Amino acid sequence: MCGIIGYTGSKKSVPILIEGLRTLEYRGYDSAGVTVAEGGCLSTVKSKGRLTDLEGKLKRNAELTGSCGIGHTRWATHGEPSDTNSHPHTTDNLALVHNGIIENYAEIEEMLRGAGYAFVSETDTERAAKLLDMLFVKSGDPLDAIRRATKVIRGSYAFGIIFKGYEDVIYAVRKDSPLIVAHNDEGGFIASDIPAILKHSTSYYRLDEGVIAKISKSSLEFCDLSLTPVEQKLETIDWNIEQAQKGGYPHFMIKEIHEEPEAIRKTLEPRIKDGLPHFGIDALDGDLLSSFDSIHIVACGTAMHAGLVGKAIIEKLARVPVNVEIASEFRYRDPILRKNDLVILLSQSGETADTLAALRHSKACGVYTLAIVNVIGSSVAREADSVLYTWAGPEIAVASTKAYSVQCALLYLLAIRMALANHKLDEANARHICDMMLQKIPSAVEKALTLSDKIYDVATMLVAAEHLFYIGRDIDYALSVEASLKLKEISYIHSEAYAAGELKHGTISLITDGIPVVALTTVSNVCEKTVSGIREVKSRGAYVVSVCAESLVGKYDIPCDEMLVIPDIDEILAPFPAATVMQLLAYHVSALKGLDVDKPRNLAKSVTVE
Ligand code: AGP
Repeated sequence: MCGIIGYTGSKKSVPILIEGLRTLEYRGYDSAGVTVAEGGCLSTVKSKGRLTDLEGKLKRNAELTGSCGIGHTRWATHGEPSDTNSHPHTTDNLALVHNGIIENYAEIEEMLRGAGYAFVSETDTERAAKLLDMLFVKSGDPLDAIRRATKVIRGSYAFGIIFKGYEDVIYAVRKDSPLIVAHNDEGGFIASDIPAILKHSTSYYRLDEGVIAKISKSSLEFCDLSLTPVEQKLETIDWNIEQAQKGGYPHFMIKEIHEEPEAIRKTLEPRIKDGLPHFGIDALDGDLLSSFDSIHIVACGTAMHAGLVGKAIIEKLARVPVNVEIASEFRYRDPILRKNDLVILLSQSGETADTLAALRHSKACGVYTLAIVNVIGSSVAREADSVLYTWAGPEIAVASTKAYSVQCALLYLLAIRMALANHKLDEANARHICDMMLQKIPSAVEKALTLSDKIYDVATMLVAAEHLFYIGRDIDYALSVEASLKLKEISYIHSEAYAAGELKHGTISLITDGIPVVALTTVSNVCEKTVSGIREVKSRGAYVVSVCAESLVGKYDIPCDEMLVIPDIDEILAPFPAATVMQLLAYHVSALKGLDVDKPRNLAKSVTVE
C-alpha cells in the first residue's frame, strides 16, 4: 500500500523523507515523490519507479533545503504508475499525500469542474487535493477546510497536507487508512507505519478516526471534526531499529520464520495461568467464550488459512461449529448471523480493508466481534469488541509467516478455553495440552528450523516446476492451503492445495510425469488414506515430497522421492512445526529463483483497499 512520511522541524526535511520512505518500501510501490516548503513556495519532485529514481531527480534539481516536507510512495489504485499520477498532488495553495481510496472521486470531480477546476492526473487523490483547495480558498483556515472536506469525501484516506501560508505546519487526518504521529525535540513526524519514524522516536500516536493533527516544529495539537481539542493515546514502540531491520538474515522472511519460537512463546506465556488458558491480560472474560453457539472466522489470505486451522481445533476440542469466511465475500453474501454467534477477525496488519469491512458489518448486525491482530492499536483491533494481540513483533516480509503461527497458537488457546467452558474437555486434559503447547511447540519449531538445509535440497528439486500440488487430509489439508499460497506468492510457481481424497474426483488428470506433489501426513487416523492418495499420484509419475510426522514414519510404506520428517510432537500440535517446514520450503524455492522474497511482484504487505 502507499507509504506516507512527513517532517517539520529544525533539520533539512528531504533526507528524513527519503530515509523514511525507504523503510516503507516493503509496502509495495510504483512511484514516489516529495514536497518541501521552500522560501514560501511548495516545491515538489516526484517520479515513477523506485526511490532511486526520485533521488536522481532531486539531485538534478536545485537542492530543496526546507525543513518542512511530506513524502509518499504510491501503490497505484486509480491511474497507472506515472510521474503525473504520483504524489504529492499539488494545487496553488497546498500539497497533499494520500493512502486509501476516495470512492466518490467522480462526483467530487464533477462538482470541482463546475467550480472551474481542471485536472492533470487520473487519480482520486488529485480530486481530494482540489476539493481541499476550494474549501481552503473559501475559508482561509486549514482546519476548517479539512473539516469540510471530510464531510464530502467518502472512502478511505490518510492525508498529509501542507498549506500555503502555513509552510512550517503539517496537517494530518485519516479514515480507515492508518496514520501515526510523533513529536520530539527534532520536530514533528507523520508516517503510515512505525519503521518510518523508528530512528527518530520510540513513542507515537496512532491517529484516531476523525481526528485532525496539526504538527509544527515546536507543537503538536489534535482536534476532532468539530475542531474541538482532543487527546490521543501515546504508544511506545518496543521494537528497536534492528528488530525492524533484517538482523543479519538475507531476507525479512527468513528472519521472521526464525522468530517463530519466540513469538509463539511471547504470545502464549501471558495467557496460560495455573496451567490453563487465561485472557485477563486482554480484558477478555473467558466465561464469555462459553456463550457462543457458533463461530465465524473471517479474514483474508494467510490469516484466513490460520482460520482453517482454528476451525479444525475448535471443532475438535470445543465441539462448537465454526465456519471460515473469506472477508471480501462475507458482507456481500448477507451472512446468517445470530445473536449468540461470535465473529473472529484475524489480521496481521489490522488494516486490511476487507477484514475491517467484515468487522463493521458484523457489529452492525449486533454480533460480538473478537479480533486477533498483530499490530497494536490498528483499526481492526480498535473497532472490535475485544482484541487478542499476537506479540510477534514487526512482520515486514509481505509473505506472512510468524503472524500465521501465533494466530494459530491463540486459536488453540481459545479452543481449549471454550472446550473447558462447554465441558468437552476436563481440566486435567486442558492443563496437559497447555503445558505441551508451552513446552513443546517452541522447541519443535526450533527443530523444524534445523531442517533448513534438508529443505533447501528438496527446494532445488522444485525450483524448475511450473505446477505443483499440495495434498493432505483433515488439518493437513488446512496446512496445505497455506503452504500453497506461500509458494505461489513468493516463487510465482502455480500451485494448488487439494484434499487428498478429492484428487481422484477430477484433478488427478493433471498429474503427469514429474509433477511435484507435496503430501502432508501428520494426522494418524487419516494417514493410511492419504498414503493411498500418494500411491495414486506416484503411479502416474508424480515427484512426491512426503512431509511426514516422525511418529508415522515407517508405519506406512509411503512411496516418495523425498521425505521431510516433522519433528516429534504430540499429533494435536503437529501443525506448528509442519507450518514452519512449509514456510521454509517456499522461502528456499523463491530464494533459489533469485526473486525478491520480501517484496513479491504485485503484492503489498497490507491491502488497505477493498
Ligand atoms: C500473506 O502471506 C499474504 N501476503 C496475504 O494473503 C495476507 O495474509 C492478507 O492480505 C491478510 O493480511 P492481514 O493479515 O494483514 O489482514
